[in-house]
Amino acid sequence: MRVAVFGAGYVGLVTGACFADLGHEVVVRDVDERKIDALRRGEVPIHEPGLDEVIARAGDRLRFTTEVEEAIADAEVVYIAVGTPSTYSGDADLSAVWTVVDELPRIERRIVLAMKSTVPVGTGRVIRDRLDARGLRNVGYVSNPEFTAEGTAVRDFMQPDRIVVGAFDPLDADAIAELHARIDAPFLRCDVASAEMIKLAANAALVTRISFINEIANVCEATGADVQVVAEGIGLDRRIGPAFLRAGIGFGGSCFPKDSLALKQLAANSGYHFQLLNAVIEVNELQKRRVVGKLERMLGSLRGATIALLGLAFKPGTDDMREAPSLVLAGRLLAEGAHVRAWDPVADGSRYLEGVEIAPTALAALEGADAAVVVTEWPEIAELDWGEVAKRMARPVVVDGRNLLDPAAMRAAGFEYEGIGRAAE
Ligand code: UDX
Repeated sequence: MRVAVFGAGYVGLVTGACFADLGHEVVVRDVDERKIDALRRGEVPIHEPGLDEVIARAGDRLRFTTEVEEAIADAEVVYIAVGTPSTYSGDADLSAVWTVVDELPRIERRIVLAMKSTVPVGTGRVIRDRLDARGLRNVGYVSNPEFTAEGTAVRDFMQPDRIVVGAFDPLDADAIAELHARIDAPFLRCDVASAEMIKLAANAALVTRISFINEIANVCEATGADVQVVAEGIGLDRRIGPAFLRAGIGFGGSCFPKDSLALKQLAANSGYHFQLLNAVIEVNELQKRRVVGKLERMLGSLRGATIALLGLAFKPGTDDMREAPSLVLAGRLLAEGAHVRAWDPVADGSRYLEGVEIAPTALAALEGADAAVVVTEWPEIAELDWGEVAKRMARPVVVDGRNLLDPAAMRAAGFEYEGIGRAAE
């Protein structure tokens, strides 16, 4: 089939490249000329495992343009994969979505407009009405949310747990089914509002699990239990399952913080106070700050202390620092008067962290430091020679915000070590 994708960000690029890999003819359109030029030269602007290979394999089936007409020319399905960031109020900013919808030229043949971007429930209805008002009844509309996580996006797209399509007209859902014919996964057809809600509710369920296990971790800390063992023990219950029970310094990234805020706001705008989600968000905010309390307990005042932050990306396997806990942590430590050094194997901290010294290697960050904080669970950090690190630091203090390291081995190496929710001894 012939597909156009509007937006060459993480979601748009993965969507376009994977459809091309499935044998479709794809044109990805973005307003950013530099990005499109780079993509035409074969340069992939994001760090996403496997994506370069998929794009290279796609060859002529995957093209890039800045022109709306060129993208739409023969398209049967037009995907919207533009950003929907949070506004100050927490609502989703849909201006990029409206630009795409309003830019759609008059087309006589039947096409399907498919929403990949995460939007508030009810957006599809408004878009449908807007298309109808412009006389574009031949433009079908579906919600086809993405469930891909960064770092595993290509695999998540090709081997998804499910494909969800909400449509006003079953024929439009048929077109999306045909597009995904070579993907073996449950295909859920539903109404547009429910598809929109599935995306928001799935992310809300996942962040609820994270804040839940983080609160269990905090109680474990106060009572002498170990959250790693507790997570394993409850995860063995088939009704609970083992995924998404890693305690730490909280969730970040381009989706979870924004989408949980958007759902909270959507509920509030509809007159409903979503108590549970409010608590989940608040727990996540407090969780990032707990690390500062731990450092203060171990070092005393942080004024003048040198703290090494290991890992800056919001999770390993990506260079993405959007809503990363490292940003909040660095800000809090600087406010306490600490000298902050940071290192990440991939993410470029200098773009985001004013007042923080960016170190070229982990060892350079740790040299002479009073404490280290593991912020992202990169394997490179686990593989450091921690015996050597203990000798190089001014004080061998480690707060492990991701429970990446082995507490017994760290203590044996001479460290004063604290994880999250792990018994002190
Ligand atoms: C997420 C969803 O997984 C994906 O389905 C959705 O489409 C977009 O948002 P992503 O943001 O790429 O994907 O990352 P994910 O791997 O889900 O992790 C999100 C955050 O949660 C990270 O900061 C991670 O450190 C944190 N997390 C995750 C935990 O703290 N504990 C866990 O057990 C799992």
